[in-house]
Amino acid sequence: MERTFVMVKPDGVARALVGRIIGVFEEKGMTLKAMKLLDVTPELAKKHYAEHEGKSFYPSLIEYIQSGPVVVMCWEGPNAVSQVRALVGSTHPKDAAPGTIRGDLALDISNNLVHASDKPETAERELEIYFSDDDYVKEWRRADARWLLER
Ligand code: PPS
Repeated sequence: MERTFVMVKPDGVARALVGRIIGVFEEKGMTLKAMKLLDVTPELAKKHYAEHEGKSFYPSLIEYIQSGPVVVMCWEGPNAVSQVRALVGSTHPKDAAPGTIRGDLALDISNNLVHASDKPETAERELEIYFSDDDYVKEWRRADARWLLER
């Protein structure tokens, strides 16, 4: 089963949208495997956004991600990476379809509420930045798993 990394960014926590955002993934049928509320340190911010270093928006991205607490999560499910990205919507909220998190709840690219890994390899890298083995709940299945997944 595939896993992906999701962060509710500082604007999502500040706007008290954590429960609503988690609800999107829960209602879809994904399984929550790990979750933390934390402040992103400068070291974590640099690791997370290493691939964007040098881009014009990099300084504002690094500042934004440290501007308040974030919630980081690991979600599991079939095709978790692409399914979560579809639910989050396009990077720029103006292009995000209605019904997606950014399409319904965000206005501006610098405050786009959620980060979600773009590829399975990125998910592995990002999960390693924020979680250690002890952070994961090992053996749990949703009570409705047989209604969500192939029998
Ligand atoms: S790129 O250039 O295609 O690699 O950028 P993209 O993958 O679309 O976005 C990477 C992350 O940078 C954020 N971003 C911005 N922040 C502020 N201002 C501007 N103009 C901007 N453009 C992109 C974007 O929200 C992505 O953040 P994450 O956390 O990965 O969603």
